[in-house]
Amino acid sequence: MTPDAGPTLADRLREHFAHRGHLYGVLLAEMADDWDAGGVTRELFAGWEDAEARQFPQLRLLAGLFRVVLRGEAPQLVPYYPCLGGDEDPADAWAAVRPVLAAHVEELRASLDEAPQTNEPARTLALLAGVSEAVRRSGLRRVRLLEPGASAGLGLLVDRYRFVGDGWAHGPADASLVVSGCGATGLEPEEFTVVERRGCDVAPVDASTEEGALYLRSFVWPWMTERHARLDGALATLAGTPVRLDRARVAEWVADQLTEPVDEGVLTVVWHSVTRLYWPLEESRALEAAVERARPRIPVAHVALENPWTPDGLRPDTSPGRLPVVELDGEVIGGCGHHGPPLELRSA
Ligand SMILES: C[S@@+](CC[C@H](N)C(=O)[O-])C[C@H]1O[C@@H](n2cnc3c(N)ncnc32)[C@H](O)[C@@H]1O
Repeated sequence: MTPDAGPTLADRLREHFAHRGHLYGVLLAEMADDWDAGGVTRELFAGWEDAEARQFPQLRLLAGLFRVVLRGEAPQLVPYYPCLGGDEDPADAWAAVRPVLAAHVEELRASLDEAPQTNEPARTLALLAGVSEAVRRSGLRRVRLLEPGASAGLGLLVDRYRFVGDGWAHGPADASLVVSGCGATGLEPEEFTVVERRGCDVAPVDASTEEGALYLRSFVWPWMTERHARLDGALATLAGTPVRLDRARVAEWVADQLTEPVDEGVLTVVWHSVTRLYWPLEESRALEAAVERARPRIPVAHVALENPWTPDGLRPDTSPGRLPVVELDGEVIGGCGHHGPPLELRSA
């Protein structure tokens, strides 16, 4: 390597977590050493050595490996996956993982083409807050939900989940998913009925199928057992309440949906979470313009849980530590964690 050459793929694997405190930290450190030693890791990442760092080929590969485990084709690795009940020390995992990598090179190389895609149902806490305020402002309780960037559409099931916060609770007592630790002192959730739930994504996932559910799960890190439990709850909810998903880009889809006829007395809510940072600026602007064009014709509210804009308004602020905010019609009404709870209301 020449003195001014950039970091190698091995350096990037090593630096990704830079610790061995969990399974993926261990595996990336071991894969880095294996790459340096010319092992199977070289073959797996052949052609990806100079990939842009933000493509994170290493996370794509680990999700591919997780799919092999989830399909039951590597039972010897289950003890290293806490979400599957495993409690073995991840420090010992490499000797078991390496042969599995070698046995699935073709599939794992194909997994490098799949951008990580998670769908976090607890983010609907922000939607609950936004819809409640929109219901108060409009006086309308029949809600048509439209979600651009919906992934598998788990964010369209907000009325089927139960939320428990500081001094309040909302949602069906028998809900399959209970989102606890919501905070949001002073939140007064409103009752509303969802009359339509429809979303779009450039890569929608049909999580009502076993394959789709497994695919979605493979991107949730295996030691995050709470997130896996939430996914279980949301998938069970989806089984009873199907959602409609279109393969489409955000702006055009929202514009089309907002020109569809709607029953009188229905509040259309355009909702999205942690997706705007992936949209070109023109697409965000076009979505906002479509909502404004619709306002004189139909009651519409725009609720978002997204990184705030930079002060110049030209891009979402993704600087480290920046948390997403809850917006209702462009006004910031609160702040949330990356995966939803806790919610802190601005008015509190
Ligand atoms: C981080 S995921 C968030 C999914 C979901 N909103 C949530 O909060 O769990 C971002 C999603 O946005 C989708 N996406 C990114 N750019 C898009 C675009 N221009 N049009 C439609 N979907 C897009 C991705 O495919 C992905 O499913």
